[in-house]
Amino acid sequence: MKRLTVVPIGLAVAVALVTPPAVAETPRWGEPVKRPVAEGYGGAVSTVDLDASKAALTVLEQGGNAVDAAVAAAATLGVTEPYSAGLAGGGFLVYYDARHRKVHTIDGRETAPRAMTSTSLQENGAPIPFDQAVTSGLSVGVPGSVAQWDLALRRFGTISLREALRPAIEVASKGFTVDQTFHDQTAQNADRFKDFTSTAALFLPGGAPPAVGTVFRNPDLARTYRDLGLRGARWLYDGRLGEEIVATVKRPPVTPGSTRTVRPGLMERSDLRAYRAVERPATRVSYRGMDVYGMAPPSSGGSTVGEALNILEALPTVGLHEYLEASRLAFADRNAYVGDPDQVRVPLRELLSDGFAKERACLIGDRAMAHPAAAGVPDGSYDPCPGAPAAGPQPKGVSEQPEGPETTHLVVADKWGNVVAYNITIEQTGGSGIVVPGRGFLLNNELTDFTFGPAENDPNLPGPGKRPRSSMAPTIVVKDGRPLLAVGSPGGASIITTVLQILVNRYELGMRLPEALAAPRASQRNAAATQAEPAFIDAHGPALTALGHTFTVAPGPPTGELGAATALEFLGRGRIQAVAEPTRRGGGSALVVRP
Ligand code: GLY
Repeated sequence: MKRLTVVPIGLAVAVALVTPPAVAETPRWGEPVKRPVAEGYGGAVSTVDLDASKAALTVLEQGGNAVDAAVAAAATLGVTEPYSAGLAGGGFLVYYDARHRKVHTIDGRETAPRAMTSTSLQENGAPIPFDQAVTSGLSVGVPGSVAQWDLALRRFGTISLREALRPAIEVASKGFTVDQTFHDQTAQNADRFKDFTSTAALFLPGGAPPAVGTVFRNPDLARTYRDLGLRGARWLYDGRLGEEIVATVKRPPVTPGSTRTVRPGLMERSDLRAYRAVERPATRVSYRGMDVYGMAPPSSGGSTVGEALNILEALPTVGLHEYLEASRLAFADRNAYVGDPDQVRVPLRELLSDGFAKERACLIGDRAMAHPAAAGVPDGSYDPCPGAPAAGPQPKGVSEQPEGPETTHLVVADKWGNVVAYNITIEQTGGSGIVVPGRGFLLNNELTDFTFGPAENDPNLPGPGKRPRSSMAPTIVVKDGRPLLAVGSPGGASIITTVLQILVNRYELGMRLPEALAAPRASQRNAAATQAEPAFIDAHGPALTALGHTFTVAPGPPTGELGAATALEFLGRGRIQAVAEPTRRGGGSALVVRP
């Protein structure tokens, strides 16, 4: 592995600036190449990025297990997908343990600082402007990823954090080839990146986004990862790296002359010391003879996918109309009831009960429901067809924040049959836009996932130490105790509908997994119009419009795209099919150990 000369912080920033853009090399013979589908044995991985998939594959080939490989891939995505993932972000990991045939989850969600209150995202009784919150210290949550990697490796892994970070250090040192997606995401963010000295130095070398085909190196991040490997997670939660994070959150390095309003954050070192990644029971619903496991609150992924599947199972026939309606109802309930379970009472058992699902399913008729669907009453007492009004006002203040294509997802399986589905994020594509000077990574803006308020009865208002509600939905499907499929996606709240639609495509509409991922998508989240990809509107718009549905093109960027899923299917006798997107976000990378 290439070793870096240790250089002082200021110089390290300069290295990123002056390194001449090398031209990308073509892959050597026998090197994995980027493909959306791979089939074989001995372990498999699918991520949005070839370097990250290769990192996982290397760990698997060297005898590591799925958890080891997932951490290695996640850390590498922090290098090659730094606008979606990173050590200062958070995530949710679902793990199938083959030996005990048991599903575990680890919640590495960011937390609000203890100084945050229900009105911290308001000013004069109104929500602060969303774009001001996005690019601020105020929206930076206490990072969860490093604590999650550390816990995952100690609980279920076989290698150290130091070893797991090795592939990422190598990619950060040697560099990776800038593709159109990286270039475009940098360009979309250039206007705010230029307003922070540290961010401009790293991501706008020479004042512009790196050109497609050049090699992008991040020696600062290589050094940060190397130190993290040596010093351990405490370096962030109770050490020098944490001090630097807090200092940056409180006083973002605004470029002299910038006119941007940059609100400082509330994070203290005591918030970092108080942070814990948490093991939580997975959500589980039984669906057409399979067990579908997902992430429990504070993510709404498992509860909303699970509720929608229960609703679909209660219907006599399932097609795209029913998919949209089940999703609409499940989102009404998600918005009304799901928040951080350590701070609000979430009626999770009832939301996932068959009785509640039957009551909700009864509201689905031949035509699209009136908007907005009212939340149900998950109180344990259900009438299969209560004649309750389907539509009603949303609770005051409950509205969806703007959602983007942020976040990323990866899946890994090893030769022992262990499986990981792992969603990671720094929230917005580009997070807060603020790089910690000399450290090579962006701070998250995860606290914009809270409801800003003012709102009544909203389970997702901010609070001290609270975790904002997520939509991340890493999902593992099991039958008779053995894994059948693992899937997940980025995309803000549309993560839930992407995962749900892939499961509907696979198990209701009879598609094979590659088709189920590639098929055009639509996302109904209890909104008047369903967001959809243009190809979905072309193919299904007329038939669904005739049933009262209305559509709007998914906002992106890129406009008209929903999600960037990754998935595995277990085909029996040890054969695994790894699947990534053929085209969305530039296509993903599926690899197997033995093709
Ligand atoms: N920040 C995306 C999510 O947690 O759903």
